[in-house]
Amino acid sequence: MLLFREKVPSDWWPKVQANLPAVLVDHAHLERKAATSALNLEKYRDLYSRVAELNAIAIEELQHFQLVLDLLKRRGIPFGQPYPSPWISGLMKSVRNGQRHQAIDHLICCSLIEGRSCEKFQFLAEGLKQIDPELATFYGSLVESEGNHYATYLLMARAIDGPEADRRLDFYLDLDAKLMREPNPLPILH
Ligand SMILES: [Fe+2]
Ligand SMILES: [Fe+2]
Repeated sequence: MLLFREKVPSDWWPKVQANLPAVLVDHAHLERKAATSALNLEKYRDLYSRVAELNAIAIEELQHFQLVLDLLKRRGIPFGQPYPSPWISGLMKSVRNGQRHQAIDHLICCSLIEGRSCEKFQFLAEGLKQIDPELATFYGSLVESEGNHYATYLLMARAIDGPEADRRLDFYLDLDAKLMREPNPLPILH
């Protein structure tokens, strides 16, 4: 289902494994930002008819945020400041202006972020099985939801303008591949 043109770099997993508490804090922020992104999409005229669906996603992301916060609390990891992700800001920098173009680009960026989360949560569910079974199960439980968000955002972009959404998806998949190849030593998921 995922269309990515570049694999997750080989140094991602060792980095995540060596920085699990920081990565969990980053994950909490990621869910918080996913909730606000769903709400931000409601500003576009082309998405007024999708507000209920976007609210449902925002609620789900907020629940994920709370689950990660609970996990942090149980593990005695303090909630801290977020690191900006060069990959996310690299994608978002290419969102064009103008109602319809902006809505399509914003949806595709959100879709790719959800898709990469889905992919990476799958790696975490597998890779943490022996090291941290509780965390492995937790990540496994989020995979389907993030995968659904990925598909929903992509379908929303296509519903606005199919050919334009596909053209921009092609552009963003190349940009994602390019950004994925750039070194990112920060203890963050993306
Ligand atoms: Fe989420
Ligand atoms: Fe999500």
